[in-house]
Amino acid sequence: MVLTTIFIRNYLTNSNITDYENLLFSQGGVVVSQIAPFASNLDNTYTQQYVDELIKGYSSEYDMRILVVDASGVVRVDAYNDMVGEKLDVDEVPKAMTGERSAEIYTHDQSYVMYAGLPIVDHNETLGVLFISAPVDDVLTEIERIMERLLVIFSIAVLVSIFVSVIFARIISKPIEDLTDSVKHITMGKYDTKVEVTGKDEIGALGSAFNLMTTKLFQVEERRKKFVSNVSHELRTPMTSMKIVSDTLLSTPHWDEAVYREFLQDINAEIDRLNNIIDSLLYLVRIEKEDLELNYSMTYVNYLLEWVIKAIMPIAKKKNIEITLTTNSKVQIMLDQEKMQQCLLNIIGNAVKYTAEGGKVEVVLSEYKEDIVISIEDNGMGIPEKDLPFLFDRFYRVDEARVRKTGGTGLGLSIAQQIVQLHQGEITVESTEGVGTKVSVTLPKK
Ligand SMILES: Nc1ncnc2c1ncn2[C@@H]1O[C@H](COP(=O)(O)OP(=O)(O)OP(=O)(O)O)[C@@H](O)[C@H]1O
Ligand SMILES: [Mg+2]
Repeated sequence: MVLTTIFIRNYLTNSNITDYENLLFSQGGVVVSQIAPFASNLDNTYTQQYVDELIKGYSSEYDMRILVVDASGVVRVDAYNDMVGEKLDVDEVPKAMTGERSAEIYTHDQSYVMYAGLPIVDHNETLGVLFISAPVDDVLTEIERIMERLLVIFSIAVLVSIFVSVIFARIISKPIEDLTDSVKHITMGKYDTKVEVTGKDEIGALGSAFNLMTTKLFQVEERRKKFVSNVSHELRTPMTSMKIVSDTLLSTPHWDEAVYREFLQDINAEIDRLNNIIDSLLYLVRIEKEDLELNYSMTYVNYLLEWVIKAIMPIAKKKNIEITLTTNSKVQIMLDQEKMQQCLLNIIGNAVKYTAEGGKVEVVLSEYKEDIVISIEDNGMGIPEKDLPFLFDRFYRVDEARVRKTGGTGLGLSIAQQIVQLHQGEITVESTEGVGTKVSVTLPKK
């Protein structure tokens, strides 16, 4: 804006001055053409008087002082009279004597005047100089007025742009500051931090993405805490039992060998339990880590189910439980055989485990356009409705009384779900207490 102001000022000044200069030249030219025929005869009183009146007339008409100077630089006619006979010592006179017209601005008592010199030429001979002195204050004052107005307009523009910039900076920087604060909160472990989402622009989208991230972080952190506390609890229970048993053994010196054996068997069972928990945990951690590294191969799901059922058969036989497999067609899909076996072992294992002697387990494989469904239905003890939402939580078991009877770590269904989800599939449980349970695994064909 400063540069623009300087430019406009220079431009206005130059163009106005040039205009004024041209005006003086053209008006001076008119006067010169009138007096040139008489310039060589100024010694003649009549001629001198005639030129004098002519000059005075133009001077008042054009509102400027006009002088006629002869070749030696002496003033011969002056519209204001007071310089007649004096030598006029200004640059414009000698310049005009060389045939060149010129004009220049001078300061005079704090006001500006323009001097212009025009050669008076008659029959190709320069006889003298027409000298004009005209005030240019009006011209310059007009420019100053324009500049003052411009200054006001520019100042307002500067203020408005500062104001707008500040507002915009606040609009843009406020959410970013908030975001920075929130990130600091998160680094301090406050995962439930949220930012206020305003607007639907890029910053709004960033805010929404950030909130989504903190929600996830919070959930992950909650799950981690719960997991750690569950693991500690699960590991402590067998430890406590073993401690009690071994303390009892140590504190009483004379037990029968049979009692020692019984107590050691208890300790042994607890060690098995601990081993189971640790194995399952390690398995869970491993499949979580392997996430994207499924070892896919084209597999007949029929044969896979047959294999799993065969593996469980000895336990089923012990409880006199019948397992049936119904498949309408041979279905081949891509899956990680080892992991899917583990998953189905857990589910069918549960069906056998939580079904009373003489019960029935039906495994059905159905094929649809986009996916296949493996359902495992038993007529066992079923699951109370209130427990259904938590079945896939790690270490979740329906009730402790059941657990004592059946054993188990409560990790089986978590592992099964994890494996199904790795295959982009879905696992659901329907159950009625006392009637039976149906677990369905849906897997996409592609
Ligand atoms: N088919 C079923 N019928 C009745 N209850 C079931 C059935 N399947 C699972 N449950 C209930 O759901 C709980 C969770 O099952 P999950 O397989 O995760 O753990 P678990 O069988 O107790 O232990 P794990 O499988 O790790 O040895 C079980 O404790 C059991 O109470
Ligand atoms: Mg189980």
